[in-house]
Amino acid sequence: MTAFSAPKGVPDYFPPTSATFLAVRDTLLGSARRAGYGYIELPVFEDTALFARGVGESTDVVTKEMYTFTDRGGRSITLRPEGTAGVMRAVIEHGLDKGQLPLKLAYAGQFFRAEQPQSGRYRQFHQVGVEAVGVDDPALDAEVIAVADEAFREMGLTGYRLELTSLGDSSDRPAYRERLQAFLAKLPLDDETRRRAGINPLRVLDDKRPEVRAMVEDAPLMRDHLSDASRAHYEQVKGYLDDLGVKFVENPRMVRGLDYYTKTCFEFVHDGLGAQSAIGGGGRYDGLMEQLGGQPLSGVGFGLGVDRSLLACQVEGVQPGDVSRCDVYGVPLGEAAKSRLVALSAPLRAAGVRYDLAYGGKGLKGAMKGADRSGARYALVLGERDIEAGVVQLKELATGDQREVPLVDVVISVREALGR
Ligand code: HAM
Repeated sequence: MTAFSAPKGVPDYFPPTSATFLAVRDTLLGSARRAGYGYIELPVFEDTALFARGVGESTDVVTKEMYTFTDRGGRSITLRPEGTAGVMRAVIEHGLDKGQLPLKLAYAGQFFRAEQPQSGRYRQFHQVGVEAVGVDDPALDAEVIAVADEAFREMGLTGYRLELTSLGDSSDRPAYRERLQAFLAKLPLDDETRRRAGINPLRVLDDKRPEVRAMVEDAPLMRDHLSDASRAHYEQVKGYLDDLGVKFVENPRMVRGLDYYTKTCFEFVHDGLGAQSAIGGGGRYDGLMEQLGGQPLSGVGFGLGVDRSLLACQVEGVQPGDVSRCDVYGVPLGEAAKSRLVALSAPLRAAGVRYDLAYGGKGLKGAMKGADRSGARYALVLGERDIEAGVVQLKELATGDQREVPLVDVVISVREALGR
């Protein structure tokens, strides 16, 4: 019988890498928590129409990448390709916007896009996101960006940059769109690109083909056609970023893959990741709530890629968190020693010490190998003679240094040795 493999384009995380995965996710969530974002847990599938209307009918995400199926009740259901639309749905459904604003929410979980798999691009991926709803204050845009930047720095990452732009709003965007379409109409573009220019001309600015890039080099840019209000908003966001000490570069050609963005847009780009270099992105989406049937409230947020942040840590050789499975590992020599070391599990773990021991009667050599592999700092080695003397050997694995501690004091001695 052939064994099963995971579906194409889906990552598995197991020890030791899974410990880094959790550390990356928790660092991102921790940064949001420190800025007052409350946690929201949402379903991984929603009504298909929510994404069609929220993300945009003409986006690649909606036209090509959604996992959509009909459930047993004949409803069209889609595995969530992103988080913002679902958060807005929950905010509207539960009236979360009736309390104090801004409403600040954070989430983490799996998202699904049927993309062509490649390094850093998966069909199931993990994001940590935040959304701040109901206050159009440029300081809030800067806060959202700073929360992401702080988390990346806390992980130890340095090889990334923050790219920033403004996409204008409903008052200045239509005129710019017409201007860009008029420019594109004069170019000798192929039929498919011409069709794209008709639906979403901004996408043509993001075309990766060198011949198209050359043609759109002099295309008008939104940044140069912002209304006074949009420009003032953008300048204030940049000012607050300076106040927060967050470095950025402007990229007026940035094109986000989702249609709901207005004004501030940003991406965190890592140079060591090849083609899939965005470790996170986000922006403001002032019309989305109303479009989904809610109040006309503004919003700003981000989605950070946990998988790609993990890859970035590997590329830079930085290790967020602790990959060891345990702090202390028990090495019993004989049955009596084993029952003593088993009995120590409860008091050690209750004292917050991560404790594991050699199961399966491995003998000294096998048990010491287990201790090394566990990543523990200390082994507790216990033999017949130690039991008689009421002691246990506390061995530091990195140095081999060993000292006797009284069995009755073992929890205190272990905690002292670990510096806790
Ligand atoms: P997004 O730019 O589509 O934004 O995705 C955010 C991040 O998710 C990307 O920068 C990337 O790190 C990660 N990501 C996206 N697709 C994949 C994939 N196929 N494989 C691995 N990682 C991936 C959003 O999703 C918006 N909802 C963000 C947002 C929140 N904007 C405002 N609020």
